[in-house]
Amino acid sequence: MESWPAESIVAWAVETFGPHLTVASSFGAEDMVLIDLIACHKPPPEVFYLDTGLFFPETYALIEDAARHYQLQPLRVAPALTLAEQAKAFGPALWEKDPDRCCSLRKVEPLRRHLAGKSAWMTGIRRQQAPTRARARVLEWDARFQLWKVNPLVYWTTEEVWTYLREHQVPHNPLHHQGYPSIGCMPCTTAVQAGEDLRAGRWRGQVKTECGLHQ
Ligand code: ADX
Ligand code: SF4
Repeated sequence: MESWPAESIVAWAVETFGPHLTVASSFGAEDMVLIDLIACHKPPPEVFYLDTGLFFPETYALIEDAARHYQLQPLRVAPALTLAEQAKAFGPALWEKDPDRCCSLRKVEPLRRHLAGKSAWMTGIRRQQAPTRARARVLEWDARFQLWKVNPLVYWTTEEVWTYLREHQVPHNPLHHQGYPSIGCMPCTTAVQAGEDLRAGRWRGQVKTECGLHQ
């Protein structure tokens, strides 16, 4: 499968896992390619997003645009604690004091809950994004969450992602054109300067490079 085109990988996953497949989307550039690729399947697989409550307004607007454009109803997966409850339990701005705990509460645990009972999840990770992703495969057994993980764009370059978005006129986040190649939660995402790494704006100034969904 490593040499299959992305649309064949997506078609295989939809056929093989049927309703037990779920597609993880943070509505970044890669996720918009995936959504465009799954939209032709009838019915399309479920798309979900882990709503930390801290996305950029542009991201929330894109979720609505994408839903309209593709006639999809993305599933919102929420953390157990609201932001106010989290602040009460752990203090304000937990992302500054203990971002690992914040990611665990707002992303990883909701993901674990959502994936329980599913057979496969699909993600937009690419090898080029980070050294931590350099060994990712198109199809892998996710031992942490105990299901298959399908990464149809794993070998794509940034250039290929953008060529696809342009050629297929796919809606995408306007922040990508304002220095944000990788977009996560607002408090933990800054713009990157020319020549900087794709993910240099994520958790800037901290040793943290992953939120725990993929590592
Ligand atoms: S992260 O782990 O650093 O946040 P990144 O933003 O690069 O990940 O996204 C990689 C892939 O992880 C996305 O293509 C998507 O499949 C999944 N993902 C990341 N964040 C979310 C989220 N909030 N909800 C659902 N899926 C997500
Ligand atoms: Fe919290 Fe930042 Fe992780 Fe978002 S990326 S869940 S704000 S630590």
